[in-house]
Amino acid sequence: MNKVIAVLPGDGIGPEVTNQSIKVLDAVAARFGHSFDYRFAVVGAIAIDQTGNPLPDSTVDICLNSDAVLFGAIGDPKYDNDPSATVRPEQGLLKLRKVLELYTNIRPIDTYKALHHLSPVKAKQLENVDFVIFRELTGGIYFGKKEKTDDGNAATDECTYSKYEIERITHLAFQYAQKRKNKLTLIDKANVLETSRLWRTVVREIATNYSNVAVDYMYVDNAAMQIILNPAQFDVVLTENMFGDIISDEASVLAGSLGLLPSASVGNKAALFEPIHGSYPQAAGKDIANPIGSILSVAMMLDHFELTEEAYAVRNAAEWTLVNGFVSKDIDAVNNYATSTIGDLIADHIERNKESTVSSNASLNKSTII
Ligand code: IPM
Ligand code: MG
Repeated sequence: MNKVIAVLPGDGIGPEVTNQSIKVLDAVAARFGHSFDYRFAVVGAIAIDQTGNPLPDSTVDICLNSDAVLFGAIGDPKYDNDPSATVRPEQGLLKLRKVLELYTNIRPIDTYKALHHLSPVKAKQLENVDFVIFRELTGGIYFGKKEKTDDGNAATDECTYSKYEIERITHLAFQYAQKRKNKLTLIDKANVLETSRLWRTVVREIATNYSNVAVDYMYVDNAAMQIILNPAQFDVVLTENMFGDIISDEASVLAGSLGLLPSASVGNKAALFEPIHGSYPQAAGKDIANPIGSILSVAMMLDHFELTEEAYAVRNAAEWTLVNGFVSKDIDAVNNYATSTIGDLIADHIERNKESTVSSNASLNKSTII
């Protein structure tokens, strides 16, 4: 199979983790006889530095002419600390989601037994945790009208949803639930927000077409608590843009680290794959970031290409590193491995289709603080 992949490494640790994903894709290509043609493009702060625009037209063109987009991360402290900046890296990602019409963001929350001890949540609560967040990605408060009064003393962010925007993601979420445990939870704030009441009405209507799926409705404040108290109750979680952003970071603590979680953003004309973490500027260039979120995003990309065996090989290799302690600093502050080493180990595991052999700690760049 030949595929064109747009690669947008972005800022901070984005390029480092994306490089590991490319190693992994190359290993998949070598083992399974595929060819992946990478087209690199800039986005975020690096794009502002180079062109003045966080999403240059050339980047959009490359994305529109590819089979999938591999995205790293965006963000730079020089903008975070300057609320008056009118051009910001995040605008690049938001505009990209909008122009590619990536209205559904899928964030699987898996936990690994070998890492249960790392989660601040008790291991008992983590048993059987396996759910997927369907976050609406191109509507709501993120994209509503933004205003500030002339005197700067008041500001507004509008939250709007149309029935159509809710319907299209809701169908995808129900179809996904049918391939899993047939359960869907809508998270909203229908006791307060008009948009949430519209979400409930639309979801209730659509639910009649999926009668084998059990639906429940949960207010977002309660959901924030339930994700910690009893996360195993969830299967498919459906929610609007802003709530999805917040609860997916929260849910990542179940896995043990934000660095582990992948995501896929899909629509009718494009698909983008990115780890859920940010650009983590403090770690940039140090070869310490966790590449697993990006690498598991590649597994989701391979699923999207219907390369099931290939996706399995990637997940299997990633899990092998976690189980065997080949983990980055966010997972183990004492015994850890470099970003690039973890990428090499996973690529090697895939290509040889057998467990990589470990020769010495030195050659693995193992950092041991004793
Ligand atoms: C995410 C991120 C983005 C978002 C930021 C970087 C704009 O937090 O993908 O979850 O808020 O959607
Ligand atoms: Mg977020």
